[in-house]
Amino acid sequence: MLPTALHYSRQLLKEVLQTGDIAVDATMGNGHDTLLLAELVGTTGLVYAFDVQITAVENTKKRLYETPWEQSVQLIYDGHENLPYYIPLETPIKAAIFNLGYLPKSDKTVITLPETTKKALDELLLRLVPKGRIVIVAYYGHEGGERELQTVRQYCEALPQEKYNVLNYQFINQKNQPPILFCIEKKKPRN
Ligand SMILES: C[S@@+](CC[C@H](N)C(=O)[O-])C[C@H]1O[C@@H](n2cnc3c(N)ncnc32)[C@H](O)[C@@H]1O
Repeated sequence: MLPTALHYSRQLLKEVLQTGDIAVDATMGNGHDTLLLAELVGTTGLVYAFDVQITAVENTKKRLYETPWEQSVQLIYDGHENLPYYIPLETPIKAAIFNLGYLPKSDKTVITLPETTKKALDELLLRLVPKGRIVIVAYYGHEGGERELQTVRQYCEALPQEKYNVLNYQFINQKNQPPILFCIEKKKPRN
């Protein structure tokens, strides 16, 4: 069966992340992706995880509690657009994940926004290593979601092909606006 956007996002991360790498969960929510990233980079790696809701930080902290990777994650109660305050420019980021939209069973008015998403993407691209990937899963059925989807699509389409491979994965015959995936992969510079 073809994987859902969610499953494919995890596959794309698993393909590149190795023990000791540095990764970013730009939208930690309940911490499912944070835990996956931590498992992949292991105890010698590092994961930066961002969210603007304290419940997300608390839920993720609980999820990581007493796992071997508890110390490998830096939980940041702040927006991903403020990434430069937490992640120095010279940090070699191997992978990052965004789940755009709102946190299910939580405050549906707290949504990711086009301008802040774009700012975070700009900052991540500056730190992404060659062969590194940024995976974006856009849930867009809510108010404001379409606008964010268009912003992300335009952003991805405008990236120069000399520097990046950009993938778009979506089911085009499904009802109820299933999530749409984008993956930006940095190419190795030519000699
Ligand atoms: C779709 S949910 C993420 C789900 C998460 N990946 C998980 O495993 O549960 C989107 C999350 O983005 C958060 N968010 C909204 N604006 C944000 C921002 N500027 N920076 C970081 N997180 C933000 C929301 O609070 C929400 O928890």
